[in-house]
Amino acid sequence: APQAAADVRPDLTNVAHRGASAHAPENTLAAMRLGVTMDAHMVEIDVQRTADGHIVLMHDTNLVRTTDAEEVFPDHGSYDVSAFTLAEIRRLDAGEWFGQEFDGEKVPTLREALAVLRGGDVGLLLEIKEPARYPGIEKQVAKQLDRWWLKPAPPGLAHRLVVQSFDWASMKRSQDLLPRIPHGLLGRVPEAEIAAYAEWADQINPGFTTVDAAYVQAVHDAGLEIYVYTVNAAADMEAQIAKGVDGIITNYPDVLAGLIAGE
Ligand code: G3P
Ligand code: CA
Repeated sequence: APQAAADVRPDLTNVAHRGASAHAPENTLAAMRLGVTMDAHMVEIDVQRTADGHIVLMHDTNLVRTTDAEEVFPDHGSYDVSAFTLAEIRRLDAGEWFGQEFDGEKVPTLREALAVLRGGDVGLLLEIKEPARYPGIEKQVAKQLDRWWLKPAPPGLAHRLVVQSFDWASMKRSQDLLPRIPHGLLGRVPEAEIAAYAEWADQINPGFTTVDAAYVQAVHDAGLEIYVYTVNAAADMEAQIAKGVDGIITNYPDVLAGLIAGE
């Protein structure tokens, strides 16, 4: 008989980090779809802005690690996301570095990523990456979310969207634009400051090694949720569950789904 299931809160949120990024190239549509297949409750993505103002999925501010930008554009100079137009970025392969079978995966736009999840029952944890590099990005993201997620969403789905960033001032700007959407603060907010952030924020999402059960309790006492990242080993997932976290952000949503199911 399943043992673990009894110990796992039924509302524990399983978040596929950059998609199911242990199994497919991070921040691609393939990784997002795999997260859905693997029974994640939400898919986490990172977004940044191209030179011509398009919002795309990318973790690093530089394209080199997860694309073939240097091969395709040997003389580009800068390989920062912000130095490339969308048309240039679309020429890049974002899958082959991870495995031959992902050859041909592209860097998705935010709009494409929203279309993968929209209307389904898997939510979106959207991280605005390094917003200080992209003045006004909160407004652009809010506009796209409104148009491509909130307006067409069936009743009940909209709550499954959370916007988060390590830049807490950016999240305040975003929260002002999207007051009904939950916002998360990435990193460990000092305990003395939690109450003030609780005036408008909804989650605190720190690295899992930086928090203990008392910190989880302090976040809960302020009325906020806590999702921890990036928890990849089953034993670490169990330890986080024991601390009482609300969500676990993992490259292995399949492993966490197994724990939740008591396998
Ligand atoms: O969702 C939390 C986590 O993604 C934050 O760290 O570097 O993986 O974006 P990073
Ligand atoms: Ca992230």
